[in-house]
Amino acid sequence: MRQHRIAAIPADGIGPEVIAAGLEVLDALAARDGGFKLVVDHYDWGSDYYRKHGKFMPADAMAWLRTADAIYFGAVGDPDIPDDVTLWGLRLPICQGFDQYANVRPTRIFPGVSSPLAGVGPGDLDWLIIRENSEGEYAGHGGRAHRGLPEEVATETAIFTRRGVERIMRYAFEQARARPRKHLTVVTKSNAQRHGMVFWDEIAAMVSHDFKDVTWDKELVDAMTQRMVRRPQSIDTVVATNLHADILSDLAAALAGSLGIAPTGNVDPERRSPSMFEPIHGSAFDITGKGIANPVASFWTAAMMLEHLGEKQAAGTLMRAVETVCAAGVLTPDLGGKATTKEVTAAVCEALRGSNA
Ligand code: IPM
Ligand code: MG
Repeated sequence: MRQHRIAAIPADGIGPEVIAAGLEVLDALAARDGGFKLVVDHYDWGSDYYRKHGKFMPADAMAWLRTADAIYFGAVGDPDIPDDVTLWGLRLPICQGFDQYANVRPTRIFPGVSSPLAGVGPGDLDWLIIRENSEGEYAGHGGRAHRGLPEEVATETAIFTRRGVERIMRYAFEQARARPRKHLTVVTKSNAQRHGMVFWDEIAAMVSHDFKDVTWDKELVDAMTQRMVRRPQSIDTVVATNLHADILSDLAAALAGSLGIAPTGNVDPERRSPSMFEPIHGSAFDITGKGIANPVASFWTAAMMLEHLGEKQAAGTLMRAVETVCAAGVLTPDLGGKATTKEVTAAVCEALRGSNA
């Protein structure tokens, strides 16, 4: 039997609720499939750990994580700790430490879920956003001087390297090639940002020569927001910088019905290190503990993780079960339903046990 080792880091807010739901569904799936087994290591890192130990994870955390085949991450963020401290304390050190340079964000409208866009339904919006995940505007390069004085200055420098841009571009073209429509939209802001963004355009043109079977176009990020709303059918795969894709993926999730559905993978395509999979929604303290967090993002995240681990068939089975449950109207309040996290989870497990998935 194939065995995969998963490091679970539920962390903050609704993270523990949705990761527990995801692990329950993964158990039901493994039992049904019979071909693989997951061994799960649980790590209690996050903001509570920080309050006790003064850091978000222990010094040897990366060595522990390295023993895993994949990381299943909940959310990090706490109302009492500045967001930049939580982010740079847990999530970014893992993404950057393992050089998970491709952030992969699929979006589509599930049956039973309605888009805020009039007349747009399943099939009209099926996108894959590839976000550069190792540099750009999140490089952490910059500083502040003359603090508190009138002449105070702060810089936040975006870093674009040939290696960094070329590898994400190649990855994006490969992902586009693997999808039926084989189309890539390269998003930049190269009219205003004439150094880094023109560099992106040049590298896109260069890499495209190696992907003659993929069609591609360019879009400025501001125009892209309009296109996403007005012509969602014209979009397939998208590649953009760390910050641009961060913003576009929130819009994408909202257009597909809810941030409560959207998954993401922080992927090391070269597989030198474990990749990390997480729902996009974050810690959501306003609904923490209420039992109404939407577990669908966590399920889709689990399916992405399985696919990365080579369990393509099981990933497909899981997605069909989730879509069956959504189509049947078993939805949490963010999707206009009345179901709880537990009810949605039980319905997906039930669909997996039955013959209809
Ligand atoms: C995301 C989130 C994070 C990001 C936040 C929590 C810092 O918005 O994963 O999209 O900007 O990377
Ligand atoms: Mg975001």
